[in-house]
Amino acid sequence: KQRVLSGVQPTGNYHLGNYLGAIRNWVEGQSEYENYLFVADLHAITVPHNPATLAADTYTLVALYLACGLDLEYSTIFVQSHVSAHSELAWLLNCITPMNWLEDMIQFKEKAVKQGENVNVGLLDYPVLMAADILLYQADKVPVGEDQKQHLELTRDIANRFNHQFASPEQPVLQLPDPLIRKEGARVMSLTDGTKKMSKSDPSDLSRINLLDPPDLITKKIKKCKTDLVRGLTFDDVERPECQNLLTLYMLLSGKTKGEVTAECQDMGWGQFKPLLTETTINALKPIQEKYQAVMDDKGYLESVLRSGREKASAIALSTLTQVKAALGYSLPL
Ligand code: TYM
Repeated sequence: KQRVLSGVQPTGNYHLGNYLGAIRNWVEGQSEYENYLFVADLHAITVPHNPATLAADTYTLVALYLACGLDLEYSTIFVQSHVSAHSELAWLLNCITPMNWLEDMIQFKEKAVKQGENVNVGLLDYPVLMAADILLYQADKVPVGEDQKQHLELTRDIANRFNHQFASPEQPVLQLPDPLIRKEGARVMSLTDGTKKMSKSDPSDLSRINLLDPPDLITKKIKKCKTDLVRGLTFDDVERPECQNLLTLYMLLSGKTKGEVTAECQDMGWGQFKPLLTETTINALKPIQEKYQAVMDDKGYLESVLRSGREKASAIALSTLTQVKAALGYSLPL
């Protein structure tokens, strides 16, 4: 089986973008692959974070992974900081990654502008740690949202450079991963501005629907969300980003096809569409929220999932790390 690797940062506010862009796609393909899905808690400290909530946010995310349908028969779930090889490989890759590759990363530039003078080295180095995450598991496929595409390209460039400099073309040490980015759902937009992506860090909670939002809050957010004054709802009108986004959400959450949604909504006004989207969203999230509660009530179970995840992940990570170190010349016996 081919191997899949992906992760989410434990920074609270897990939203529909994370679900439709990433987690749902992990679940749908999981039986075809051998999956390694983790909580990116080392990435979470590249921006100011709260130590008091890191552990709770990690549990919540693991419980959501399970609630969204990850099945331990196919998927190994673990926490990044539990496997020290991630930090170690990141260091080794740092030393072969040109500085200007990192300075060119769009997400770095955006986040650096937001943070002003508080930009730490970790924020710049974030994509190298992400490359380490992926390359340690020799992943074939990395299912992510559109915003991670450039980081995946960088990962391939780093792997290529390593293989070129320290391995032979016949026997590469690092596997080049392919991004798996779906056409629909790869870029879920903000509810308050259809030209911005839905984001965990948007200061306005009204901009996103979180997976754990109760029905009345979902109702309120959709009631208040930005629309336009045009009657009739259609896909693919670049002048109407909000319309495109809300119809796409409806399509993905209802399971209907684009043709079905077009036929159903082309003569609708917003007053008719919003209650429909609200009901569909509430119904789609209900089973996830119920399962989440059940899993969260059993901390012992969550701990055992993470313990066995750590064991399985560590074995593979260590094997790659050993090969990388040998290729770099770390050959003295321990
Ligand atoms: P993070 O935590 O920002 O987001 C997790 C996943 O959700 C996707 N996503 C979206 N998809 C569609 N629309 C949106 N509005 C939206 N917002 C977020 C992201 O693309 C991502 O797939 N660096 C990563 C975590 C990471 C990782 C990795 C991922 C660390 N190491 C190795 C894959 C492989 C991140 O910050 O994702």
